[in-house]
Amino acid sequence: MKKHHFRQETEAVRGGTNLDKKNGPLSTPIYQTSTFEVADMQEQLRVTPTDSYYTRYGNPTNTVAENAIAELEGTDAALLFSSGMAAITTSILALVKSGDHIVAQRDIYGGVIKFLSQWLPKLGIETTFVDTNDIEQHERAIRPNTKLLHIESPTNPRVRVVDLEKIAALARKHGLISTIDSTFSTPINCRPAEWGIDLVLHSGTKYFGGHSDLMCGIAAGRRDLIEQIHHTRTTLGCCMDPHAAFLLLRGIKTLAVRVERQNENARRIAEFLSRHPKVARVHYPLLREHPDYAIAKKQMAGAGGVLTFEVEGSGADACRVAEALKLFTLAPSLGGVDSLVTIPVLTSHYMIDPELRNKMGVTEQMIRLSVGLEHVEDLIADLEKGLGVLTREHVRAGVAD
Ligand SMILES: Cc1ncc(COP(=O)(O)O)c(C=O)c1O
Repeated sequence: MKKHHFRQETEAVRGGTNLDKKNGPLSTPIYQTSTFEVADMQEQLRVTPTDSYYTRYGNPTNTVAENAIAELEGTDAALLFSSGMAAITTSILALVKSGDHIVAQRDIYGGVIKFLSQWLPKLGIETTFVDTNDIEQHERAIRPNTKLLHIESPTNPRVRVVDLEKIAALARKHGLISTIDSTFSTPINCRPAEWGIDLVLHSGTKYFGGHSDLMCGIAAGRRDLIEQIHHTRTTLGCCMDPHAAFLLLRGIKTLAVRVERQNENARRIAEFLSRHPKVARVHYPLLREHPDYAIAKKQMAGAGGVLTFEVEGSGADACRVAEALKLFTLAPSLGGVDSLVTIPVLTSHYMIDPELRNKMGVTEQMIRLSVGLEHVEDLIADLEKGLGVLTREHVRAGVAD
């Protein structure tokens, strides 16, 4: 783990830039180029291993963002990718080979489940899925050929928080590489490297970008792992475009203040919903009744902007409430400045077999909110009004009209 020179707010604004430079542009220029010219072969030799050679290998705009992210996560280095899925699939492909085995939490992003369960077996790589926070089950699943332990925290949509200290210790004990999808946390709320996790992955499309206007993936970790992943990224070609990296940099500058406000807004909304008579259950880690409250208190500065609640009634009732909201826009994704609402069984968990979904605790009555930066009182008023469509008659009869 790397030492932080500044506090998070400072790292977010100034991270990755050279503080000694004088008379240059304050904002990072976009090196909108696919290639870099050289004067002679001597210079070619010098630049080929750098970020000024060919943009699939690296690009100076991207480097500034990568350095900023490494500072925020407290890791040796970071890499950008064309999407969160690109970051996760490329990193895993870089770190395992045919015949290896992976242990992964059951509760991870659907796209990653598909990659692990449907794509990797074609390459002779098997995955065993285990229950979130059942550390003994994780350990029982480890085989002599297990190479990697993959987790996600907080999870979607139940916002479970994984005990990173225990996972890192388990991985160390068995010589495994520990990887985490930390998209829902952001380094403002939790820095997994500080708890001993080897590789931190993100869909930067979410909080890092922060404005729902770009696609981005991130891998941050130990230098030896990042070097291996860099080789694979170069081969697979899933690099980030420099123009998107510029937008990402702009997003990173406000990451700390955005996430702090989203934490506060979401916490207030979770408290409001937990007192509402038409709400059966609220999933938010900083509510005392959440199963991972103690873990969240230990390892997170805030619980983030995503929360899920279950309405009193049917799946159709949940849809009616979501459709009735005005300030929460019906759209998948999360982490942006605009508040969004989705029904998990119709979006992120649509492709998952209903039986497995039930096992995962994902119900038809669930509504997931991604809380943005609107005024919290306006958001609460919107929810109050939206929940008003659930008349007592509807709830009692479970009517789906
Ligand atoms: C937790 C998590 N990880 C990874 C991804 C994939 O990221 P992307 O859509 O940027 O490929 C998502 C997308 O929703 C996500 O929610």
